[in-house]
Amino acid sequence: MASARTSVFRRKSSGFIVLIIFVFVTLFFFYDKEEIKHESEHPNAPNVARLELLRSKKGSRHKDDFEKEYPLLLVNEQLVICFENGTDYRKLPYITESPPTTEQDPLTTQRNIRRLLPTLHRTTTGDAAEPMIYFVTPTYPRREQIAEIIRLGQTLMHVPYLHWIVADDTDTCSQTLNHHLKKFGIPYTQLASPMPEVYRARKNAPRGVANRRAALNWIRTNGKKSGVLYFGDDDNTFELKLFSEIRYTKKVSMFPVGLIGDYAVSTPIVRNGRVEGFFDSWPAKRKWPVDMAGFAVSLEYLALSPNATMPFRAGYEEDEFLKSIGLKLQDIEPKANNCTEILVWHTQTKSSKAPTVRISMDRQKLDRLNLGTVLKQLETMGVNRISETEGTTAQAIVEGSVKPLSYWFS
Ligand code: UGA
Ligand code: MN
Repeated sequence: MASARTSVFRRKSSGFIVLIIFVFVTLFFFYDKEEIKHESEHPNAPNVARLELLRSKKGSRHKDDFEKEYPLLLVNEQLVICFENGTDYRKLPYITESPPTTEQDPLTTQRNIRRLLPTLHRTTTGDAAEPMIYFVTPTYPRREQIAEIIRLGQTLMHVPYLHWIVADDTDTCSQTLNHHLKKFGIPYTQLASPMPEVYRARKNAPRGVANRRAALNWIRTNGKKSGVLYFGDDDNTFELKLFSEIRYTKKVSMFPVGLIGDYAVSTPIVRNGRVEGFFDSWPAKRKWPVDMAGFAVSLEYLALSPNATMPFRAGYEEDEFLKSIGLKLQDIEPKANNCTEILVWHTQTKSSKAPTVRISMDRQKLDRLNLGTVLKQLETMGVNRISETEGTTAQAIVEGSVKPLSYWFS
C-alpha cells in the first residue's frame, strides 16, 4: 500500500516536473518573441539589425555571420552630413617671423614650423604626401560638449594630414557645434547620427555607436580606401606622438590606453616585438579586450571587409568591430615603442547638472553689458539655464558689495 502510494506520488511529481519544464520552455519562447515584437513596433526601430542582435544573444556566432548580424546600414539609418570642409585652413599657433634662437620645448610645433608650412595647406582630396588620418569623434549634446570639442580641436590643430569626422548624437545639425568646428581650420565633416531610441532607453546604452557607424558609412560612401581610421572619443587625451605612430598602420595597430579599469591601463602584452595577449581588468570573454582608443585600422585593410561594422552592444563594441574585420593576432602591429609608452588616456569629464540662473529683470537690458552675450552663449551651449522665476539670483559685485543687476540701469 505504502509503496503503491509512493509510486502514485512519484508519477504525480514527475508529471509535475514535466509540466514545470513545459511552462518554462513555453515562457522562454514567448518572452523571446515578445521582446522582438515589442522592439520592432517602435517607430524608429532599426528592425533588421535589432532582430539580428537579439538572435545573436543566443550565442552561436561565427565570424562569417557578421554580415548577416550587423548589416552596415540599419533599415532607417541615414547618412546625414551637416557640414563639410575639405581644405586645410589652419593657421599655425605660435608662428614666429624669425627662426627660433633658443632651444624649444620639443612638444611645441615651433621647431618644425618651417618644415610643416608647405604641407599644412593641402586639401584632403589632394595628393597627400603622408597617409591621411580619419579621426572619428562621437560626441553628444551635454553641457560639457563644446568645452571638450575645443580641447580636442586644439590638440588636432597640431596634426597634419588629418580629417576630423565629428559625429553628433542628435537628429538635427548643431549650428553651435559647427561654429566651433569651423574655427580650427581642420578639414572636417560634421554628421548628425542619433542613437536609435530603442537603445537610448536601455540601462546600459551603447554610447557612440550610431556615431561611429555613420562615420564608417561616410568613409565608404566617399570611397576612402587609403589612410588610417582612428576612433577618438571627445573626452580622451591624446599625446601628439600618437598620430605619427598610427599614421603608417598596415592593418591594425595597437597601443596602451591609460586610465582604464582596475589596472589603470589596457594594453596588448608584447614579447619580442609581437602581440601575444592582452592586459585588461575586464576580460568579459572578449577575444579582443581593448579600448576604443587603443587601436587604429588602415583603410586598405578595412576595405577588405565591406560589411564590417560596430554592433549596438555596450562593452563589446571594440571586440565585435575587430572580429567583423576578421583580425588575426599576427596582423597586429604594436606601436608606442612596443607598447611601453602611454600616448592616449581615457580621461572622463565629470558631468554635473546645468545650474539655473534667475534673472527677473528685462533680459534685453543686459545686452548693454557683456553679460547679455556671455549668458546667452552659455545657454545656447546648454551650459546653464536662465529663468525669470527660479534658480540662483544673478547679482553683481561692485567694490566689494553685492548689488542687483538692475543697479546698472537705475
Ligand atoms: C568607454 C569607451 O572608451 C568608449 O569608446 C565606448 O564607446 C564606451 O565606453 C561604451 O562602451 O559605451 P566612456 O568614457 O565610458 O567610454 O563613455 P563616454 O565617453 O561617455 O562615451 C563614449 C563616446 O560616445 C564619447 O565620445 C561620447 O561623446 C559619445 N556619446 C556618449 C554619445 O555619442 N552619446 C551618448 O549618449 C553618450
Ligand atoms: Mn569617455
